[in-house]
Amino acid sequence: MIHNGFSSEFLDRVRAKNDIVDVVSKYVTLTRRGLNFWACCPFHNEKTPSFSVKQDGQFFKCFGCGESGNVFTFIMKMENVDFPTSVEILAKNAGLELPTDTENEEMKKRKHERDRVYAVLKATTEFYHKNLLENPESEQAKYLKERGLSREMIEKFQIGASLNFDSLPEHLRKLGFTAKEMMSAGVVGTGDDNRIYDFYGKRLIFPIFNSFGDVVAYSGRSVTPSPEHTKYKNTPQTIVFNKSEILFGYNFARDLKKEHMLDTLVIVEGHIDVIACHQVGITNTIGCMGTALTTLHAKKIKQLVDNVILCLDGDNAGNMATYKAIDVLKQVGLNVRVVRLVAAKDPDEFIKKFGKDNFLEVLTNSIDCVDFILTDSAKKYNLENNSEKNQYTQEALNYISKFSTPAEQEIYLKEVQKLVKIPIDALRKSMQKSEVKETCETIENLSDTPSNNYILESKIMLLASILYKKIENFENFSGLFGSNDELSELYKFLVQKKNANEDVTVSSLFDNFDISKNSLIDRVINYVFPETDVYNQLLSDTIKRVNQLKIDDELKELKAKLSNVKSNEELTETLKRMQELTVLKNKEKM
Ligand code: UTP
Ligand code: MN
Repeated sequence: MIHNGFSSEFLDRVRAKNDIVDVVSKYVTLTRRGLNFWACCPFHNEKTPSFSVKQDGQFFKCFGCGESGNVFTFIMKMENVDFPTSVEILAKNAGLELPTDTENEEMKKRKHERDRVYAVLKATTEFYHKNLLENPESEQAKYLKERGLSREMIEKFQIGASLNFDSLPEHLRKLGFTAKEMMSAGVVGTGDDNRIYDFYGKRLIFPIFNSFGDVVAYSGRSVTPSPEHTKYKNTPQTIVFNKSEILFGYNFARDLKKEHMLDTLVIVEGHIDVIACHQVGITNTIGCMGTALTTLHAKKIKQLVDNVILCLDGDNAGNMATYKAIDVLKQVGLNVRVVRLVAAKDPDEFIKKFGKDNFLEVLTNSIDCVDFILTDSAKKYNLENNSEKNQYTQEALNYISKFSTPAEQEIYLKEVQKLVKIPIDALRKSMQKSEVKETCETIENLSDTPSNNYILESKIMLLASILYKKIENFENFSGLFGSNDELSELYKFLVQKKNANEDVTVSSLFDNFDISKNSLIDRVINYVFPETDVYNQLLSDTIKRVNQLKIDDELKELKAKLSNVKSNEELTETLKRMQELTVLKNKEKM
């Protein structure tokens, strides 16, 4: 089998020569505790170790942030490289030659395509940057000067200028890039006459970097205010750019984290806001580029820090975005504080007007997100009016129960009490009531699929049993894994391997499946086996269920057959088999 251009034999050789404990030890200090090794997680900020490395299974798992993987994924995450590069690094580490002949053509083609796109982007960034530096009289350069961006920031953020619509495609063509490659990179568009033109023509250019600091996209800001031009023109989705996972300035935050200089991230809206903060030395600032924060964004942030300060624009849109962002950020377990600017529309303007120190002061005085919601949403209601007061109380209690721990809840309840002047006991009770209601609703939603849940648990238990070699004969469980989900893929894979007489290690699963946190396969790998009695009971119940499902399937088939049997003989035979199965089914009943 070949994955990502490497045969599984080669991957196994690389793996065998790179014990995960040795590899991880190069990055963090591991301490042995019981069977496993532990450390503070290198992928998120923590003070007590929840990152574990299992030597026998050759994989790691962080119980804090949920990251898990094998030696290859560890290198991918640590060094921010793709899978083939992680194999290269580890092969080199072990003094192994890379095989060249087994490389998968499709992979090679895709890699080549990506390499070309990165090359286009690199050339484009340099071209724009040079334009800007060499044309201090250009509109773009003058605009930057007016906005007060320093030379140092222009360098750090590789800011550039597009002076017209034709020079970029001409320049790229001279360098040997095809129109198709330019299109794939998202740097050109096609006009009516099929001619290609600079997609960001005449704009001020902000390159967007990925986590490793490679340019993957651009935002082009119009410097001539006119209603015909959108303020920013952004790169659409390309093979190297997905806007729902890129944050402006994240690469610099990652660098800070590597130097252990990062504790909190400030999240702002605009490119210029990020740069303005960096310019005054507040380098722990990233930008959401005006879009709503996604869970992917939030997870990436959580890999670097536990604390964020949201400092979005002061307008109404910024206020709504703040509520949404709190929700997404809290869901991944971040501590969220909030700043609402009043005397300026955004951080850039604030710093210009009041200076760095005052901005730092504002950040220091940021308030906890629940406090923010409690006081801010109170403004929507007239608390003198009883029905509005009730509405507010409900809303406030909902937020409190959603976002805070029991200890914090007490503090927040006191705050609500101050605002609505309802006795705290009553508040406590109605909060419990609303929690009970919510739980009941969730259970109701689940209750029409209890068997589905049970079957899911059985599948996970069975797969873990196969993986950890607690059972050996499992080829006839396919009835349980009918559907087309990741567990059935895993089951098929295990059967294939068994038929090929190949051993499956937990670690090798990470090469074959994209295993994200809390995914079903992740649950298989981290399945905690119950004690023997319980386990045996569970296993035999599950096997019974599998048999029942098989019987049901056959019965269904026979029933369908009944309506078009061709002879009496066939009819008798079918009925006989059906009766046999029914008896068997009753015998197997749990
Ligand atoms: P802003 O309009 O606040 O822009 O939008 P800004 O960068 O702060 O620029 P100034 O200071 O007003 O000149 C915030 C972010 O929203 C995205 C951009 O990422 C921008 O930085 N945006 C805004 C767009 O993508 N398209 C637009 O048309 C407007
Ligand atoms: Mn702005």
